[in-house]
Amino acid sequence: MNKELLLIKKRYNLKEEEFNFIISSVFDKKIYQIYLSEKLPKNKIKKIINICKKRKDEIPLPYLLKKSYFLDLELFIEKGVFIPRAETELMISLLEDFNKRKIKYIIDIGVGTGNLTIALGKMFKEALIIGTDISKRALRVAKKNVEKYSLTNQIKLYYADLFYFPNYQEYFNKFDLIVSNPPYINKKDYEKLPKAVKDYEDKRALYGGEDGLLIIKRILKEGKKFLSKNGKIILEIDSHHPIKIYEYAKELYTSFIFINSLTKKIRFAIIS
Ligand SMILES: C[S@@+](CC[C@H](N)C(=O)[O-])C[C@H]1O[C@@H](n2cnc3c(N)ncnc32)[C@H](O)[C@@H]1O
Repeated sequence: MNKELLLIKKRYNLKEEEFNFIISSVFDKKIYQIYLSEKLPKNKIKKIINICKKRKDEIPLPYLLKKSYFLDLELFIEKGVFIPRAETELMISLLEDFNKRKIKYIIDIGVGTGNLTIALGKMFKEALIIGTDISKRALRVAKKNVEKYSLTNQIKLYYADLFYFPNYQEYFNKFDLIVSNPPYINKKDYEKLPKAVKDYEDKRALYGGEDGLLIIKRILKEGKKFLSKNGKIILEIDSHHPIKIYEYAKELYTSFIFINSLTKKIRFAIIS
């Protein structure tokens, strides 16, 4: 066993799993290969110490490693850009049964790292995908990730509020899917978020106004004219939202399906 690593591990007292994740990311090797090496490069050891120190201040690991994961994607990330959550992965499985050839135009509102956008691009190979965000940093990160997965021909990213990218009028009645994991946390819950989330992630990615529905209501109301004849809106939502969403949008749409996440709480809505 490498003594230096064992000492660092003891000193910073991080969870075994987390420490192993840090070292395997820094060395880009399997754990056993790292532990078995007698001598390790000084610069990498320094990097590990640095990360362990910051981890003690609760800076989320993806920001320290500049890496995040979503399904089978390894994505670049920077501090301040929303960290993809495992729960959101289910949104992609909900779309598996959709007819891949009929879906021609998709918009992903609030791309963040580009996780959903890229997964959609890989799933709906014949569709043009537009992604928008009001965070320039998120768009910069998403652009890098779209390039990494060679999807620049299929995915167009815009710095825009919701649907209002240049020439948006050309997309009236066009989107077969309007997809979004919008900011949906209400005021009371936002105050209670853990320090690691509140201090390091962008408030604009999380906070959905007093009742959490500010952006969701806008997507439902303003999205109506962008939706194709058989188009669907797929949203990640808060478990307290379904009735409010139904009450708000029942005059605009006829079908409301609410779906549980793996934790058995309602987490998604499919509206058409
Ligand atoms: C919860 S994050 C979701 C990121 C990513 N899609 C995911 O699922 O991990 C919400 C994103 O929406 C963006 N956003 C917030 N308000 C927006 C608006 N009015 N128009 C476009 N994007 C917005 C935020 O900057 C943030 O990147």
